[in-house]
Amino acid sequence: MGEIIKNKKYMIKTWGCQMNVHDSEKIAGVLSSLGYQAVDSEKQADLIIFNTCCVREHAELKVYGNLGRLKKLKEQRKDLMIAVCGCMTQQEEVARHIARRYPFVDIVFGTDKIHKLAGFIANAKLTGSTIIDIEEDEEGSIIEDVPVEREEGIKAWVAVMHGCNNYCSYCIVPYVRGRERSRKKEYILEEVKRLGQSGYKEVTLLGQNVNSYGKGSSDRVDFAALLRKVNGVDGIERIRFMTSHPKDLSDELIYAIRDCDKVCEHIHLPFQAGSNSILHRMNRKYTKEQYLELTDRIREEIPDISITTDIIVGFPGESEEDFLHTLDVVERVRFDSAFTFLYSKRSGTPAERMEGHISDSVKHERLKRLLYLTERITAENNSTLRGEVLEVLVEGVSKTHSGRLTGRTRTNKIVHFEGHDSLTGKLVNVRITDPQSWSLFGEALNE
Ligand code: 5AD
Ligand code: SF4
Repeated sequence: MGEIIKNKKYMIKTWGCQMNVHDSEKIAGVLSSLGYQAVDSEKQADLIIFNTCCVREHAELKVYGNLGRLKKLKEQRKDLMIAVCGCMTQQEEVARHIARRYPFVDIVFGTDKIHKLAGFIANAKLTGSTIIDIEEDEEGSIIEDVPVEREEGIKAWVAVMHGCNNYCSYCIVPYVRGRERSRKKEYILEEVKRLGQSGYKEVTLLGQNVNSYGKGSSDRVDFAALLRKVNGVDGIERIRFMTSHPKDLSDELIYAIRDCDKVCEHIHLPFQAGSNSILHRMNRKYTKEQYLELTDRIREEIPDISITTDIIVGFPGESEEDFLHTLDVVERVRFDSAFTFLYSKRSGTPAERMEGHISDSVKHERLKRLLYLTERITAENNSTLRGEVLEVLVEGVSKTHSGRLTGRTRTNKIVHFEGHDSLTGKLVNVRITDPQSWSLFGEALNE
């Protein structure tokens, strides 16, 4: 994979979703195979990589702000190398804008080009000019032999599919991450097996829409079947997955979650909006009633499951009445937690061209009301856990309190309790004594 580089240091800054976090692990894997070492500070790094997100304008503005800051650093250290990759650079005009506006950037590369990083670095050094490679590879290709350097030894992300075919009208992801393609089950199972052998306890299977896993493939393994297979891998104790699209969440998947002992009782099921006309214009392909019926069906089979969601407020044309439907869904489903977003106009998406864009003040006012409700419900749900004994996978010592451990329940709630570091990576039964809105406090039970 190119020459080994001695004593060079790199720093990766990552914005956006878990898929980006996982891509950064692949970038780290490539760089360490080249002899680079990771550092935390830009000042110490010989190579700085920004792995960017473009799902909302806010994320992009942050990247531009950070890029601006690097100019000075580059002036002080001419040999510093700067690379920008990820979803922002998948849009050609953005990639060109970065190269033009920030000429000190050495490499601009796309999300499918991580395996070529060694070549980009060598080329940039050789030519001294900005290397841009964002061309889409041939349709359907997934590069399998990229090394992955994972951060910690307890939880790991495993991509099961890439891209998205859903074209929700507000969303840029299908344009930047390309068409849906599933990894072969053999590669996924092999990766999970290796993770189990090296001591990882939890895997999260990742995809923009995991429910479409295996569509169009000849071996007839859909996501429910994949979950059952992953459940059979030794060493791994917990399996999570995200994200599920409500339109194609099958009964088989519900049964697989119910039946598989390692699959955690948690589903992230974005509903985005409660009004049927907004859902229709979002191209979500389900109605409010179907969503409510689906969550009922899930809870019938798996009563203690936690359901979390994503919600967008202020989609073009959203009336007060439409918004009340969103609040109504929240009240009825009583989500364990919700990620709430202000609608953000994305260039090239159908929603950008729709009538009735909502003013910032109305969006903010609705978001405030929504947050008030979601936070109240999260707190109420958590309060019912007082006195319960929950299994916690310990992730480590709290950063702020030595002697305090932090971990997660199967339902993905954060738990803090007193304990020794030696419990890190172990499953511990904890009695919840003080449930709060964002996390639960408890005490370990003596076995
Ligand atoms: N504006 C606001 N939120 C968005 N999301 C995706 N695109 C947009 C946008 N243009 C949200 C959706 C999705 C989550 C990952 O980001 O809620 O589920
Ligand atoms: Fe975007 Fe919709 Fe695909 Fe999710 S399912 S990535 S919101 S287009």
